[in-house]
Amino acid sequence: MRAVVHDRYGPPEVLRVAEVERPVPKEDEVLVRVHASTVTRTDTGLRGPAYLFTRLITGIRRPKRMIAGMEFTGLVEEVGAAVTEFQVGDEVFGIEGGANAEYVAAREGGVIAQKPTGLTYEEAAAVPDGSLLALTCLRPAYPLRGKSVLVYGAAGSIGTGAVQLLAHHFRAEVTAVCDTKDVDLVRSLGARDVLDRFRDDFTKNGKTYDVIFDAVGKHSFRRCRRSLKPGGIYISADLGFMYHVPLLALITRFVGSRRATLGLGRYLREDLLLVKELVHTGKYRPVIDRRYGLDEVVEASRYVETGQKTGNVVLRVSEAAPGDQPAAKHEEQVPT
Ligand SMILES: NC(=O)c1ccc[n+]([C@@H]2O[C@H](COP(=O)([O-])OP(=O)(O)OC[C@H]3O[C@@H](n4cnc5c(N)ncnc54)[C@H](OP(=O)(O)O)[C@@H]3O)[C@@H](O)[C@H]2O)c1
Repeated sequence: MRAVVHDRYGPPEVLRVAEVERPVPKEDEVLVRVHASTVTRTDTGLRGPAYLFTRLITGIRRPKRMIAGMEFTGLVEEVGAAVTEFQVGDEVFGIEGGANAEYVAAREGGVIAQKPTGLTYEEAAAVPDGSLLALTCLRPAYPLRGKSVLVYGAAGSIGTGAVQLLAHHFRAEVTAVCDTKDVDLVRSLGARDVLDRFRDDFTKNGKTYDVIFDAVGKHSFRRCRRSLKPGGIYISADLGFMYHVPLLALITRFVGSRRATLGLGRYLREDLLLVKELVHTGKYRPVIDRRYGLDEVVEASRYVETGQKTGNVVLRVSEAAPGDQPAAKHEEQVPT
């Protein structure tokens, strides 16, 4: 099968499309013929030089898993002997390492579910990453119902996920901060107030919030502390400059009335099932910025690494994905 592989860490150019062995599903796994996948910040982070400590898990000198990617949608082509929930022909989506490939083997009990009906493969591929990471990052601020929450970096993958979940699932009062070009999009996702980060400095307008979720890790607790209500919490999706956020989390547990914490993103099966239901009820929709073919993975990764995508970047793995739109290369999409 064709897959995006990298046998060393480095810039996007270490990625290449190669013929590799198709995975053989174990007895508790399904083999998925992948129609669409994505390139995420997690993918670029695991491949690049930024977070050396992650190599304790991913391989010290070279990546243990050579095939890139994690989000997938496609058709179940084989099922292991012990699999009961999925059948050959099921349309599925989820998260599994090695998803930038024509086939991926996924554990039945892993982060996989029936694809939401009504979404194309490409749309469904753009659902899990941002939504699931947003859900787990926001957990330290539970319960969220009725709380005032400011989402900084609201147009990214995690940001667009957070805004929708907060507005439509948690019923929080959402203020979103994003770039000028994304204001209308972010408002359409359910934010009550949207601030243009180049025009409105939320730290200077006198308003305070129960929660500030820094979905891109580009703000800081120091700068936005006064915009938190007493008892409020700042959650950063990123470790911050010199990895200071975990230390700050420790200090603010004992000092002061406002807390800072690191949002620990995880991909959980129960969260995937929740988001799937939200898609079905019209409370969640994927935001896609650009679509690339599998052979354009280097270009796609370069774009993701700019840190400026709006929502998600899809990788078209199978050109003939049933239900998908004809290939429109690099189209800018504002979802309807
Ligand atoms: N905590 C976890 O477990 C976890 C897991 C995975 C990833 N992450 C991290 O979470 C962060 C967000 O991931 P993502 O996939 O949502 O990112 P993303 O989609 O790449 O975010 C892009 C968005 O960030 C905005 N942005 C870029 N620089 C900004 C700045 N200085 N101030 C405000 N907004 C800015 C961009 O807006 P403009 O167009 O205006 O530049 C764009 O809308 C990344 O740092 C990633 O490494 C955390």
